[in-house]
Amino acid sequence: MAARNGPDSFGWVSRGIHWLMALGLIGALAFGSYLARIEPSFDTLWMYGAHKSVGITLLVLVLIRLAWHRFSPPPVAISAGIPGWQVRAAAWSHRLLYLLMVLVPLSGWVGSSGTGIPTVIFGQITLPAIAPATEFWDTAGFTAHSVLTKALFALILLHLAGALSHVVLHRDATLRRIVRGR
Ligand code: HEM
Repeated sequence: MAARNGPDSFGWVSRGIHWLMALGLIGALAFGSYLARIEPSFDTLWMYGAHKSVGITLLVLVLIRLAWHRFSPPPVAISAGIPGWQVRAAAWSHRLLYLLMVLVPLSGWVGSSGTGIPTVIFGQITLPAIAPATEFWDTAGFTAHSVLTKALFALILLHLAGALSHVVLHRDATLRRIVRGR
């Protein structure tokens, strides 16, 4: 089982990070939406800590993923029989997904810094604040977090629809190679 990506295959590193992040992102989107609807209290404090810990882990994972792609580029998208505009739209949606996977946790971290409450990861590592503890940064960070998470959710739905179209319409190896490698 190859770790590195090939010209038409995904190695286990890229596949592992892809599915780990898929699971983590869907979980963080659902759990974050729940957190935004409850009142923060002493009893629910651990939930915020858990969300922050998973969110920062996802930030680290996307940075590892981007670095790994420099070292081991992913295979070229399968485009036989697919209109050029769809291939270009898919490439841009992937770039946008990466941008949001970086900006979403960063905005959460900015908002959390704005509250003045320390961001402690898995109860072990206290991260530095990346914005001043003021009402402005609290509001600006969480407003951005709220808008960007909605954009990320919409793009994940589009990504899923694209993956399904490869299975149902084009019947090619796109989904298979991110599951099994080739
Ligand atoms: C990819 C990672 C992340 C995802 C997908 C995510 C997702 C979400 C979502 C969907 C919400 C609800 C937004 C709303 O509707 O207003 C939320 C809220 C929240 N997020 Fe994140 N988040 C991530 C990372 C982070 C990080 C790294 C932090 C802090 C270090 C953080 C802190 C918070 C807090 C404190 C809330 C609750 C805000 C409130 O009470 O209104 N998030 N998150």
